[in-house]
Amino acid sequence: MNKLTATDFLQRAQKYHSRLIEIRRTIHANPELAYEEHETSALARGVLDELGVETKSIAKTGVLGKLVGGTDGGCVALRADMDALPIHEETGLPFASQKPGVMHACGHDAHTAMALGAAMILSEIRESIPGTVKFFMQPSEELLPGGAPAMIAEGALESPPVEAIFGQHVLPLREAGQLGFFSGTMMASADELYITITGKSGHAAIPHTALDPIVTAAEIVVGLQKIVSRNLDPFDRGVVSITMIEGGHTTNVIPDDVKMKGTMRAMNEEWREYAHRRIEEIVDGVCKANGAEYELEIRKGYPALSNHPASTEFAWSGARELIGSNQVFQAEPMMGAEDFAYYLQKVPGTFWWIGAGTPEQGCVAGLHNSRFTIDENILPVGAAMLAWTAYRYLDIWLRGTDKK
Ligand code: NI
Repeated sequence: MNKLTATDFLQRAQKYHSRLIEIRRTIHANPELAYEEHETSALARGVLDELGVETKSIAKTGVLGKLVGGTDGGCVALRADMDALPIHEETGLPFASQKPGVMHACGHDAHTAMALGAAMILSEIRESIPGTVKFFMQPSEELLPGGAPAMIAEGALESPPVEAIFGQHVLPLREAGQLGFFSGTMMASADELYITITGKSGHAAIPHTALDPIVTAAEIVVGLQKIVSRNLDPFDRGVVSITMIEGGHTTNVIPDDVKMKGTMRAMNEEWREYAHRRIEEIVDGVCKANGAEYELEIRKGYPALSNHPASTEFAWSGARELIGSNQVFQAEPMMGAEDFAYYLQKVPGTFWWIGAGTPEQGCVAGLHNSRFTIDENILPVGAAMLAWTAYRYLDIWLRGTDKK
């Protein structure tokens, strides 16, 4: 059997360019929030069925596709998230959201289209594929606890067991179609903080008869700053931010309580747990010193996303073959969170960025912005990259020459 080359994949992907634009625009015009992706998953399932990919429903509104190759081999998974955001679109595009207040502002419309494009390419070359490619059309990336844990709990990584998983995300304000990789921890864990400080209200002119929760809250805000500045290795990354304070209503009354909210980001589990303890100690200590009561809730979000070095190196070298070294870049770690992290806790794999375009290419705003859009020239590139990575992984796996 003739070996397929990177060029074969790009050429095959280009054939589907207009189809992928049509799919992306259909999804874009009909955005659906987390666990409401009924039409999006029906569309995805329809395309996969048409290609002869086995499909089944998973994780409420998700679809699991399974493409069985011509010969025996390993199993690799490609993941796309499908949900939109509660944002009112202001792009003015002809295919803009038809649902007020709901928008694909994180590129999940493009992720879905590109994964379906990969399925189109791989089903064309099915006979040459040694093994199985699974398509994880995942719901609810944007809403805690995330669709990924549900996919895993319902067996997406089993029968046959997934040996590696790959996924991608659009990256705004970066040349369209460039691919960015990072080996190691690339994205942060994200936990939410909810604190209520209870004191005793009273006349502001006789503070000694009251118990002022505002002063206590202020001390807590300052105290929490020390977790990153004093309890984190300066070479590491972390964030503790209080983002909301609410208490009192006028000039001459000390209120009963103050409510605070915030976020905490970490790049490793050890420090994450340690910082949780420090938050509790600081809130507890400051409240004790002031005689105030408190309630503290740390709501755990997604874990940090750690790309496996060997899989990252593997996909990275494939990207160089596909689009040339000058189009491939080393990504920077960032403090955003992504539920793809859960898959990477279970199986090797990597998550890469695909440039969504510069302002000159039409991408004028960042993710989760009401004016976010992508350069649609990236669609065949992302589809080819997913398909090429899956094929290459299985091919090399089967031959056993470079098992990663
Ligand atoms: Ni996203």
